[in-house]
Amino acid sequence: MKILVIGNGGREYALAWKLLQSQSIEQVICVPGNGGTATLTGCQNLLLNVQDFDGIAEFALVNDIALVVVGPELPLSLGITDYLQSKHIPVFGPTQEGAQIESSKSWAKDLMESAGVPTPSFAVFTEPEPALAYVKTQVAPIVVKADGLAAGKGVTVAATIDEAQTAVQSLFQNGFETVVIEECVTGQEVSVLAVTDGLTVRPLLPAQDHKRIGEGDTGPNTGGMGAYAPAPIVTPELNTRIEKEILNPTLEALKVRGIDYRGVLYAGLMITPEGNPTVLEFNCRFGDPETQAILPLLETPLDQLLLACTQQRLAQLPTLTWKQGAAACVIAASKGYPGAYEKGKVITGIEQAQQQGAVVCSAGTTLKQQELVTSGGRVLGVTGTGVTIAQALSVAYSAMDCIQFEGMYYRRDIGYRVLQDEG
Ligand code: GLY
Repeated sequence: MKILVIGNGGREYALAWKLLQSQSIEQVICVPGNGGTATLTGCQNLLLNVQDFDGIAEFALVNDIALVVVGPELPLSLGITDYLQSKHIPVFGPTQEGAQIESSKSWAKDLMESAGVPTPSFAVFTEPEPALAYVKTQVAPIVVKADGLAAGKGVTVAATIDEAQTAVQSLFQNGFETVVIEECVTGQEVSVLAVTDGLTVRPLLPAQDHKRIGEGDTGPNTGGMGAYAPAPIVTPELNTRIEKEILNPTLEALKVRGIDYRGVLYAGLMITPEGNPTVLEFNCRFGDPETQAILPLLETPLDQLLLACTQQRLAQLPTLTWKQGAAACVIAASKGYPGAYEKGKVITGIEQAQQQGAVVCSAGTTLKQQELVTSGGRVLGVTGTGVTIAQALSVAYSAMDCIQFEGMYYRRDIGYRVLQDEG
């Protein structure tokens, strides 16, 4: 069986790497992939744009592709699933209508409200003046969100009312037509990635990521600087509540709207100091770097899981099985990220890092005259596994010590909250 994975990040490398462990997988093709997927045994890159739906469909039909797995939100929000389904190509990922759960914050909020899913209180505005007037009536901190996809730059947690007003003005000036203003809730953030076939929903192991660039969770937001799974804060009782109070009602609400949602339903949750889960946002795809920490622990063959979702037979699949223990992923980034950074730096030491027992997922990399060089902000994800998160981190950091490129930056405190608790 041949599977096509859309995207070029660490998440897509992790998907390809995991799929290739299945007996039934003959080849994975990444579109467009990265320098790491180009050299991963059994994998090859296809240099098409992720928005070239026609080219992707033609390749899939000519090459007898059994499944297309869509990594990033952009092609989903542009309707890649609808397009490929119209050509009878099996796809893992929701339709354009379903992808609104990520591409429109106000749509997602309405959905949650109709489903009775806990989420911070909010108001939606399509004009700057009423939004600014509303902000003045609120107490800081307060959250200002762009309604559309904003590559991780659409959310401001404003510490003052002035800051919130500036954020509102800037979003409207930058062309966003709708802005959501939301109550700010505190607690610990958790990512629960669930898979669904539109009828049944099954959560994967809960994960936590570190979104800020700086140690101690300081500085600007990034795509994610590290992650670990399973997140100990999600006890079995809390996991059951998340299924009952969040995942199941959300799927029901999607069904009521006539949406046949087959793919990842990723709940970005805040666990409040009282221990209650509330939804900050939904995403319509696998999280990155969470996927790099979750997949090394999955024992159920990934192709079987994704095909069961696509073929609407998830309920018949045996319970998902997981390796005992934990996994932790540390991201190596280019100097300057998430701001401007240089590219083309030669990367060395990956084989030595793998010999330490780590999985090294290539992200912002490319091949230049057979050498792996940097080509993006988040360059690599290094994942270790172990009995505890502390052990997993120790493997990841020993492996990271082997890797070098000019200007390499990584956080040395991934998992610090858990380490304090694990003692
Ligand atoms: N790690 C956050 C995300 O994937 O959106």
